[in-house]
Amino acid sequence: MQRWRTRAFRALERDSGARASRAVAALTALAVALGTGAAMLATEPRIAGTHGRLLDLVTSLCAGLFALEYLLRLWVAPERALASATGDWALRYRYAVSPEGLVDLAAVLPTALAAFGRIEDDWLRALQLLWLLKLMRHASALTLVFTVIRNESRSLVAALLVMITLMALAAGAMFALEHEAQPTIFGSVPQTLWWAIVTMGTVGYGDMVPVTPLGKLFASAVMVIGIAMFAVPAGIMATGFAAEIRKRDFVVTWQLVAKVPLFQGLDAARIADIARLLKPEVVPENFVIVRRGEPAEAMFFIVQGQVEVDVTPGPVRLGRGQFFGEIALLRDTVRTATVTAAEECQLLSLDIGDFRHLLDLHPDLRETIEHVAQERRPVEAGAPPP
Ligand code: CMP
Repeated sequence: MQRWRTRAFRALERDSGARASRAVAALTALAVALGTGAAMLATEPRIAGTHGRLLDLVTSLCAGLFALEYLLRLWVAPERALASATGDWALRYRYAVSPEGLVDLAAVLPTALAAFGRIEDDWLRALQLLWLLKLMRHASALTLVFTVIRNESRSLVAALLVMITLMALAAGAMFALEHEAQPTIFGSVPQTLWWAIVTMGTVGYGDMVPVTPLGKLFASAVMVIGIAMFAVPAGIMATGFAAEIRKRDFVVTWQLVAKVPLFQGLDAARIADIARLLKPEVVPENFVIVRRGEPAEAMFFIVQGQVEVDVTPGPVRLGRGQFFGEIALLRDTVRTATVTAAEECQLLSLDIGDFRHLLDLHPDLRETIEHVAQERRPVEAGAPPP
């Protein structure tokens, strides 16, 4: 039983890329697509009239599948803890109240309530669209959106507060300006609030229109302010996205840097310093990375793949963990050899300025790199660069 539970846990909870977990992800995506599609079509009278039973069958099957998934996830929840200091039921409860657990429950609850006739049909269809949230677990783009909202929540709330304040003030002023001329349309401040929201949101349904000259002038100002105000949350989200993607790129670079033998003895903070300087690059097979005689701008570390250095008497291959392009930087000369990718390579490049900065900060790295450069191409006294 324990073995089965572990297996089920791996398939359900670990996005490991293994066949079982890929199948679970694909099946979930398919059920979500079919289920939400059927729920939407079921609200279209012409389609519901002819294919209503089929659509009901599809949504019920999807709901059944999600119910089974929810029960399985509750069953395997104890596998989430490495050392089971907490009891099984406590871990199940923790899953049930987690955002993922609540989304899974919300996928099942409306259909269960409908089975007992406790929910209206229209609401059932609307709530079945919550199934789309189940994709969050497998779609990193969706989790990115939620992470950005969480990271930027303070700025977003501040922007929202300013917006609400402006809307209330605009509604108050417009009420005072238009109430006399249109007592039924601009009957109260709450009623005028609808005008403020629609105008500041730059939608303008046209159901509430000022008629006094002052009212019109004021409305024009509110529209312009509305455009500016709505741009603020968009800007916050855009900056948040850029920052989050940079952070994620940094983590990837950090992991790549940690794999380079030259940096392996360093602690996490120093690796992080270096990761800030290195840029990951992928080059295709046969790509000439550096060319003999050309000026040098960077040196490279090989994370994956092999390169060929055309030196006499025969070409030399360098692979994972090795570096090249250091000689020209150390000796302030042009490239001493041509280096070509023998296969697709993942590299980390270090710009000349950062190279100098890094070697000044870490004399031990300078020593190792200089030692390797010396072995590759001993300096002949007074010899000009090749
Ligand atoms: P650089 O001269 O900047 O550009 C070409 C690079 O090829 C050089 O730095 C070294 O990193 C590398 N290289 C040159 N000679 C050898 C060698 N004999 N063995 C391995 N790599 C070399």
